[in-house]
Amino acid sequence: MNKEQLSKEFRNHFKSDFERMFFAPGRINLIGEHTDYNGGHVFPCAITYGTYALTKRREDKRVQLFSINFPEKGMIQFNIDELEFNKEHTWANYPKGMLRFIKEDGYEILSGFDVLFYGNIPNGAGLSSSASIEMVTGVMIDQLFQLNIPRIDLVKLGKKVENDFIGVNSGIMDQFAIGMGKKDSAILLDCQTLQYEYSPIELTDHRIIIMNTNKRRELADSKYNERRRECEEALSQFQKVIDIQSLGELTEEQYEVHKHVITNEVLKKRSKHAVYENQRTLKALRFLKAGDLKMFGRLMNESHRSLKEDYEVTGIELDSLVEASWSQDGVVGARMTGAGFGGCAIAIVEEKKVPNFIEQVGKTYHDKIGYQADFYVASIGDGAMEITNEVML
Ligand code: GLA
Repeated sequence: MNKEQLSKEFRNHFKSDFERMFFAPGRINLIGEHTDYNGGHVFPCAITYGTYALTKRREDKRVQLFSINFPEKGMIQFNIDELEFNKEHTWANYPKGMLRFIKEDGYEILSGFDVLFYGNIPNGAGLSSSASIEMVTGVMIDQLFQLNIPRIDLVKLGKKVENDFIGVNSGIMDQFAIGMGKKDSAILLDCQTLQYEYSPIELTDHRIIIMNTNKRRELADSKYNERRRECEEALSQFQKVIDIQSLGELTEEQYEVHKHVITNEVLKKRSKHAVYENQRTLKALRFLKAGDLKMFGRLMNESHRSLKEDYEVTGIELDSLVEASWSQDGVVGARMTGAGFGGCAIAIVEEKKVPNFIEQVGKTYHDKIGYQADFYVASIGDGAMEITNEVML
């Protein structure tokens, strides 16, 4: 949908013209999976798919939200002072939670507003559509009411919405990538200290392909929380023999020396992934900077294997896509991205081999799984922002 069509939709639903328009991207993570809540590193980037929010301030205290993606849910309405979680408000709990926590932080929001949301991130694809709607709401409220909220605080508030409003114990990666993303760059983020650096993605004649399993991510949230608990348990066992605050502080060598304190095999595997994946992420950055795409790809492949065997968050759909990718000509690496349990994988593919890659992997997937996967060539874009005439849709 372009700006014209969106403004027409706004007029249809709110009987007036919108005043301002905002955008927040989705994200992919190149490497460093399930490391953020373990105090490790992640290496994500913002993509050019995302969520648009067209808005107009109101005179009264009502908030009216409509999503083009969920027309069947109708217009969701509430008062600016009634910001309780409401199951019936489904998707609108994300913007509502954001509004609530911004207010709780002491910022004054003087009036209500109307918002039309439209997202072009494939639904349920694990490209962080929820963090995207949180961040677009945060940036919008900040600008509409001239609150001057530091961007990093909006990032933290987005995470708080997931953790304390929605009930998913996720880490900071998604909101950070979406809030702080930069065109053609990935961000190496230390999730313990929140120190970060941008790394230009120079893939020369290669492209990043996003592959959507189209598998519904059922039970994903409870499994996610379960993984997090398992890591916490492993950490507390390590703490009996070594002074650490998070699994991300362990080197591979330290893990090997001390792993005997973990008596449960499952916890041993989970923590192994957390430690090795963190180290892989640091190595990956070094290889990317040195222009060694081949080694970068190899680390991606190792990451997937570890997520499959030790962390057990892949499943047949993601494994089929990734394993089919590995056997294609011109592929330097492939892995699942995001939380797993369905969702998307990514592959780095030589540009001239992309059409053949899509055809072959698509066919293998369809034959094996019985329905189709979708493929997108990723463009790495900027983080959340207002869309003005200079920054067009
Ligand atoms: C989800 C969470 C992130 C991160 C990833 C796994 O996207 O929201 O915080 O934990 O899973 O790396």
